Amino acid sequence: MIDKHKVLERNATLLLVFSFLAVTVGGIVEIAPLFWLENTIEEVEGVRPYSPLELAGRDIYLREGCYTCHSQMVRPMRDENERYGHYSLAAESMYDHPFQWGSKRTGPDLARVGGRYSDEWQLDHLRDPQSVVPESIMPKYDYLERVELDGAHIAELMQTHQLVGVPYSDEMIASAREDFAVQVDPFGDTDGLLERYPGAQVRNFDGQPGISEMDALIAYLQMLGTLVDFSTFVADSSR
Ligand code: HEC
Repeated sequence: MIDKHKVLERNATLLLVFSFLAVTVGGIVEIAPLFWLENTIEEVEGVRPYSPLELAGRDIYLREGCYTCHSQMVRPMRDENERYGHYSLAAESMYDHPFQWGSKRTGPDLARVGGRYSDEWQLDHLRDPQSVVPESIMPKYDYLERVELDGAHIAELMQTHQLVGVPYSDEMIASAREDFAVQVDPFGDTDGLLERYPGAQVRNFDGQPGISEMDALIAYLQMLGTLVDFSTFVADSSR
């Protein structure tokens, strides 16, 4: 046996070929099952795809590069949990394409910022961060409230997410534009919206008539980290 191994060790090409084979087999055994195992991402109650308005807000978050200063992942460490809340679950970003975990924290983590401040605070802060946090170095985003959105392409955006695996149903896509508009209308008929997106927050987020990019962004920020009820959540480590 040792003799045979000698042949391998003394021939660079053979050694290379066999090393490559060994690494390939090892790689397949370790990595491939992750694509089929059902429990790679544990499903957690409450996690749902973004509503059309939230998804539009998320797009603005990406466009404005908020992720260059903000992460969206609370790590399982005591100081983070005391500051931000329960550590992030994989399931909470399962519908994020691309995910926003990030590693750069010029500003605080935003994974659980939903509900931490009022809409008015978010509005003032996005318009002029220094007006509420004088030492802030965050830029102003006041122009967002001047850009109106009509949701003309929201169905296409959802279809694109559907392509990469987000379970938007045909019904959700068909009513995308309606759901988009009704989420900022506290007097509208929101039954359909709430049935399709349980827990979606309905109100006029920027306090002004019409649907602006500010409405969409605040709707997104206010739902971040709020889908899972951590007063009843129990991590299931047995699976
Ligand atoms: C240049 C870096 C930078 C960029 C870009 C940036 N922020 Fe910030 N952000 C900060 C800093 C620093 C703070 C902490 C001080 C403050 O509250 O303003 C902060 C705070 C926040 C807070 C309050 C978080 C908390 O828990 O107190 C929110 C919400 C927020 N940013 C949202 C955004 C959004 C949305 C965008 C993109 C439209 C954005 N930020 C872009 C640096 C940035």
